[in-house]
Amino acid sequence: MSGAPDGTVDLGRGLVLQNPVGLASGTAGYGFEIGRIIDLDRVGALYTKGTTPWPRTGNPPPRVAETDSGMLNSIGLQNPGIDRVVDEYAPAFARMRCAVVVNVAGASLEEYVRCARRIGHTPGIAGIELNISCPNIAHGLDFGSDPGEAARLCAAVRAATDLHLMVKLTPNAVDIGAVAHAVEESGADSVSAVNTYLGMKIDSRSLRPVLPGGTGGLSGPAIRPLALAAVAQVRDAVRIPVVAAGGIVDVESASCFLSLGAVAVQVGTVNFVDPGAALRIAAGLAERHEHARQPAGTPGRSEPCPT
Ligand SMILES: Cc1cc2nc3c(=O)[nH]c(=O)nc-3n(C[C@H](O)[C@H](O)[C@H](O)COP(=O)(O)O)c2cc1C
Repeated sequence: MSGAPDGTVDLGRGLVLQNPVGLASGTAGYGFEIGRIIDLDRVGALYTKGTTPWPRTGNPPPRVAETDSGMLNSIGLQNPGIDRVVDEYAPAFARMRCAVVVNVAGASLEEYVRCARRIGHTPGIAGIELNISCPNIAHGLDFGSDPGEAARLCAAVRAATDLHLMVKLTPNAVDIGAVAHAVEESGADSVSAVNTYLGMKIDSRSLRPVLPGGTGGLSGPAIRPLALAAVAQVRDAVRIPVVAAGGIVDVESASCFLSLGAVAVQVGTVNFVDPGAALRIAAGLAERHEHARQPAGTPGRSEPCPT
């Protein structure tokens, strides 16, 4: 694993990002819509929507809610199923310059394994991000909350694929560091942290939850201080690369996660308000990278981390 002088990031087992900034799972679909607005060839990676063995229609609306300080979602893993992603979408992924990492989810160990096997060595798919951290489906957090369960799942998927295996961690676990360590021991090549925080919004008039299922996942700048603490815990627990997410909106907030030892970042909720954010962050980090390689005393090398 390395952050090379040319700005690329080698996460291991063949997954090389052309720059450290990726589009976080679930906030850019499979790249097709956002690819009409921004040049996907310039992002470091596209992490796809969580994909399951069979198509899912997701949860009933409303599925998102704004809060004073962040966004709540309860999409419920709407996706076209792994067969369609492999057969119909991957040929388009193969034409993209950015690495496409398929985010995989399931209701059981067998479902995760089935997805990994189906992906096999599909041209265009550079790695698997194992989503053991979805708060919006029944039992979505079961694997991610318990180090033993996380290890069991990771080992089974590891045995089913030799693609790069990144495990996406939930901050809703009691000890996220213990889960990170467990998946490292079970063959994960990298970890990404964090997924959304379990949250709820109550309508102040009806005094009922806004989201039909009651709870959802909170994301955006609101979670950044929490995510920074979680990423620091994960960084201390593992030796494999850590990819950070949680309220990153600009080059300063991305730099804060990188300063903790994360080697790359994922940009999520901000895509809904500013689809160009990832490209600007990538350009800004490249500029900082250049400055850092210049002799000490070069101005503009550090600003305080925003909170
Ligand atoms: C609408 C929405 C859908 C998401 N879907 C997924 C998903 O399918 N799989 C996953 O691992 N994470 C999913 N996430 C979590 C994000 O990838 C990211 O980890 C989280 O939102 C924190 O980053 P952010 O604050 O920059 O959004 C989703 C987030 C949002 C807002």
